Amino acid sequence: MTPSTSRSVGRSTYFFGALGGLLFGYDLGVVAGALLFLGKEMQLTDLEKGMVTSSLLVGGMIGAIGCGRITDRYGRRFTVLLSAVLFAVGAIGAGLAPDVVTIIVFRVVMGLAVGAASVTVPVYLSEIAPARDRGRLSGLNQLMISSGILLAYLVNLALSPIGAWRWMFALAAVPSVAMFIGAYFQPESPRWLLRKGRETDARAVLARSRSAEEVESELAEIRGVLAAERASVGFRELFGDSRLRGVLFLGIGLAFMQQIIGINTIIYYAPTILTDLGYGDVAAIAANAGLGVLTVIITVVMLLYVVDRVGRRQPLILGAIGMCLSMVLLAVVFFAGTSSGSAGWIAIVGLAAFKICFSLSWGGMVWILLGEIFPLRARGTAMGVATLFNWLGNFLVGLLFPVVLGATSGGTVFVIFAVLCAAACGFAYKWLPETKGHSLEQIEERFGVTPTAK
Ligand code: BGC
Repeated sequence: MTPSTSRSVGRSTYFFGALGGLLFGYDLGVVAGALLFLGKEMQLTDLEKGMVTSSLLVGGMIGAIGCGRITDRYGRRFTVLLSAVLFAVGAIGAGLAPDVVTIIVFRVVMGLAVGAASVTVPVYLSEIAPARDRGRLSGLNQLMISSGILLAYLVNLALSPIGAWRWMFALAAVPSVAMFIGAYFQPESPRWLLRKGRETDARAVLARSRSAEEVESELAEIRGVLAAERASVGFRELFGDSRLRGVLFLGIGLAFMQQIIGINTIIYYAPTILTDLGYGDVAAIAANAGLGVLTVIITVVMLLYVVDRVGRRQPLILGAIGMCLSMVLLAVVFFAGTSSGSAGWIAIVGLAAFKICFSLSWGGMVWILLGEIFPLRARGTAMGVATLFNWLGNFLVGLLFPVVLGATSGGTVFVIFAVLCAAACGFAYKWLPETKGHSLEQIEERFGVTPTAK
């Protein structure tokens, strides 16, 4: 038995497993504040500012697509360790950078880590959790992402008076080191271990969070699936096999739609939306931090009361309807004109309603679903492809939002998002089956991707 499997799967396993989510959120959220000061000090052009922001997303795409094979080949734990190193290198490098090109390079490095973590963390958490709690435990990832965004807002707020943008970037090294040390002592995923023929280690890991009976039945199930599908799947087979293609398109659709419904325009631009409606800078930043706190609280509610009780499908359908209505409200505020005193308040209600609906549904649940819908032999590769589309959606929306806003109006942009939310609702209604309470192997059979499935 390796040292990594001799520890128990306690709460710390889930916590350290999910730390990648915290860094994901932090690196996503920190740039807004850092850019204000960095932009002035280095006299950046708009294009350079855009590149500092989007370099993380470009790195995210490369990290997501590159690490699928690494997690399948070398293990989930190894990939988490590797991303911890990249997170730290990126954070310190960006903090010490002498010029903007160096910052952009290190933001790409951070992006590689964020992309790798966004693929590996949901897979690791869903593979290690018992079926009855899988939603809530793998949903920890989303709690960590929203906490990371909030942490970034708070660090920005605290360091703004001294304009310490270098520290804003560099502080991400602290959780990276914690993640490395934590992950070093955590067990590998039992499913991956069994696939590599390490049955004793797999049994030991499972035994720490399941009864003896559950361990044996889960081992038998995993073995059954493995016997049917020995080899790991590459990109060609993933797209070439029609049964795999169906579940892959479901994953890509969920991942891409999670972005094009507009969440990150709200994350990046909520303060701008509020200042446009007449709020002062400080009030807008404070309101935004308030929205960040709300998101964390609602994510906890989702984990405790929704995902393993109500399930995934219904919240995704209802959440999309709620987000659609919130976008309609924001559109009305913008069309009605921004001069009336109540416009700001109505906009805050619209933003809060959107974030509540997102946090109860598409926020955490998309990552949970991505960790569970793909068959074991293709999980790393398929997750990489789906996550690539998530980063692509994030990148496209970030790029196009200001352009469309400039060419039309706030009202029109929100109408477009309302339509996209309605499309997301239709997508979930038509294509998404419920996965709550089923083991990963049962889900695999249900999607008909196990060759011996009846
Ligand atoms: C999304 C991120 C988003 C975050 C907001 C995540 O699920 O993937 O793009 O910024 O939620 O909480």
